[in-house]
Amino acid sequence: MIEFSHIRKVYDSSFEALRDVSLTIENGEFVFLTGQSGAGKTTLLKHIIMEEFPSDGMLSVFGRVSSTRHHPKFSEIAKLRREMGIVFQDIRLLSDRTVFDNVCFAARVGGGTERQIKRRVFEALTVVGLSHKNSNKPNQLSGGEQQRIAIARAIVNEPKLLVADEPTGNLDRAISDDIFSLIEQINSWGTTVIMATHDRSFLERTHYREISLDHGQLVRGGGSRIITGNYQKG
Ligand SMILES: Nc1ncnc2c1ncn2[C@@H]1O[C@H](COP(=O)(O)OP(=O)(O)OP(=O)(O)O)[C@@H](O)[C@H]1O
Ligand SMILES: [Mg+2]
Repeated sequence: MIEFSHIRKVYDSSFEALRDVSLTIENGEFVFLTGQSGAGKTTLLKHIIMEEFPSDGMLSVFGRVSSTRHHPKFSEIAKLRREMGIVFQDIRLLSDRTVFDNVCFAARVGGGTERQIKRRVFEALTVVGLSHKNSNKPNQLSGGEQQRIAIARAIVNEPKLLVADEPTGNLDRAISDDIFSLIEQINSWGTTVIMATHDRSFLERTHYREISLDHGQLVRGGGSRIITGNYQKG
């Protein structure tokens, strides 16, 4: 479970990117994260993966707590990251490595024998429909294919949580729909999904919760179990 309690994030000592955000996401949920450009979506996701820490308030991700006073140790954050798959807004594939190596690099973090690792890589590439491109370099792939490799990399260790930051940004309708179906499929296997998107069509045709930010403030969808009593602000 993921809980944000009165999270405030200040960049450059004055700019408030998140303002008093409280929300709860249950295991297995599919949640959209929306809001105009600059609203704080990526900042919120970076708190979940503990790449950023709150200036105020407290958050808990699968039992690891981050607050102004306390950050989990690096080793705890590394453990937490092994439980999640992350699709970054800027994709972040290694350009000098093959598709296979890109996914394999992540698979190694999940452990296992060399044989098990390779099998997981092939399975993940098969799920995204790109096992035949395993020896290509990222720059030999289309934008949609690169996005699918990023998803393969994110799911290769069967994460409890998939964090996807605009996984269909800049892709055409048909390819965006394919990628969205893929992410829904991953959710149907039990993985919690948080997906930042500008694409209203996904929201219009599904019933998943929409968490919406406006200038860093939560304006919709914080969840039915907003915790205010357990945590102290500050
Ligand atoms: N590292 C940083 N240092 C300073 N300001 C930052 C930093 N990261 C983000 N910001 C600012 O915080 C605000 C929220 O940024 P964020 O990337 O979270 O928005 P977003 O909702 O993901 O936008 P987009 O839809 O364009 O991806 C923006 O005004 C941005 O300029
Ligand atoms: Mg963003």
